[in-house]
Amino acid sequence: MTSLDDQAAAILRGNDRGGYTVPTAGLYPFQWNWDSCLVALGWATFDMDRAFTEIETLFSAQWPDGMVPHIVFHRPDPGYFPGPDRWGTHRTPASSGITQPPVAASCVRRLVEAGDAQAEARARALFPKLLASHRWFHTVRDPDGTGLVTTLHPWETGMDNSPAWDEALARVEIAADLEPYLRKDTGHVDPAMRPTKAEYDRYMTLVQRFREQGWRHDITRTSPFRVADVGTNCILLRADSDLLALAIRFGEHEATTEIRAWIDRAGPAFAAFVDPSTGLWHSYDRVSQSRVPTPTSAGFLAFWAGLGDAKLVSLVEPWHDRTSFGVPSVRATDPRFDSKRYWRGPIWLVVSFMIAEGLREAGAGALAERVRNDSRTLIERAGFFEYFDPLDGAGLGGPDFTWTAAMWLAWIRPGP
Ligand code: GLC
Repeated sequence: MTSLDDQAAAILRGNDRGGYTVPTAGLYPFQWNWDSCLVALGWATFDMDRAFTEIETLFSAQWPDGMVPHIVFHRPDPGYFPGPDRWGTHRTPASSGITQPPVAASCVRRLVEAGDAQAEARARALFPKLLASHRWFHTVRDPDGTGLVTTLHPWETGMDNSPAWDEALARVEIAADLEPYLRKDTGHVDPAMRPTKAEYDRYMTLVQRFREQGWRHDITRTSPFRVADVGTNCILLRADSDLLALAIRFGEHEATTEIRAWIDRAGPAFAAFVDPSTGLWHSYDRVSQSRVPTPTSAGFLAFWAGLGDAKLVSLVEPWHDRTSFGVPSVRATDPRFDSKRYWRGPIWLVVSFMIAEGLREAGAGALAERVRNDSRTLIERAGFFEYFDPLDGAGLGGPDFTWTAAMWLAWIRPGP
């Protein structure tokens, strides 16, 4: 093992709180949904048992309706806001009331295909829970059966203050009765890298509104923020295919019919994401009924969903104009680009991983390798940071970050 391999494994072990891994000490002291699923891929490279435990612990917080919450507050920590009281979901274990991109089935499929009989048994036990979580998305978050699922809060996209949400968020009227609050994130990292107060007031307004409505399913219709996020929908479509593979593997015949229907419905609906004049994929705003103006790297998750065509492949190079490293979350030529601020330009290696894997599968192996090489250089130069500046490669946000270490182990490190 090289020393970076050792460091990466040490980060996972150091952030292990017993059955779940925190994204980084301090800034994120709980279990996060999509972090944990992707981090399981890192655990699997040296401890398959622990990899499954990560996902099983996450699903121990699954709601009775199938939703897997975006944060599970396994034990109290005053260093984070908003905590369980503010969410007011009254669940055990305590959790937030919104979700995150559903990457779990895709990760479980990878684990089972790399594992032994023990892995097979644990994946089989997870299957009904995975199925219920997908059913929740396709019914509760797509009540009219449009083929696109709706996101009700920027935090659900995992790309919290992406410029893709600017217009939709600006329309959210800050609650006159917004309960006062004290942010904790800006005490951990430079405020210049974090969302602004105006954004935060709107994030908290949404949480307060949903809580006042008792987290009932009709918030899908009443939320003032409703977008079909291109990232979430592409990740769900990929996960549906991976869930289908699991269903076939486990002989779950009834489930295969249900899953195939979801996949068939998505195909034509995804046309709503594509800007015909450029070929880029944008999220779709359900309230204004139009594509959001700013394209982001989430659009390249079309490759992960198996839908990227030659046109989209040809747009990957130009996306990197003026940057030294890929894949920037926002194009550097875009007026909203900010190389250091959360999701407004920087690189996240989990997104790079999904884009690169999709590119490879689409036959664009050279581009996929370029993304992987850039990712390797970023870690070699800067360390295992939360995210990276695409102009100078500086490491940003939290240090010793779990999913960055997991991406090193599962995807980036030089092969044998
Ligand atoms: C931030 C990111 C989100 C991630 C979380 C924990 O909120 O935007 O994607 O899950 O941090 O790492």
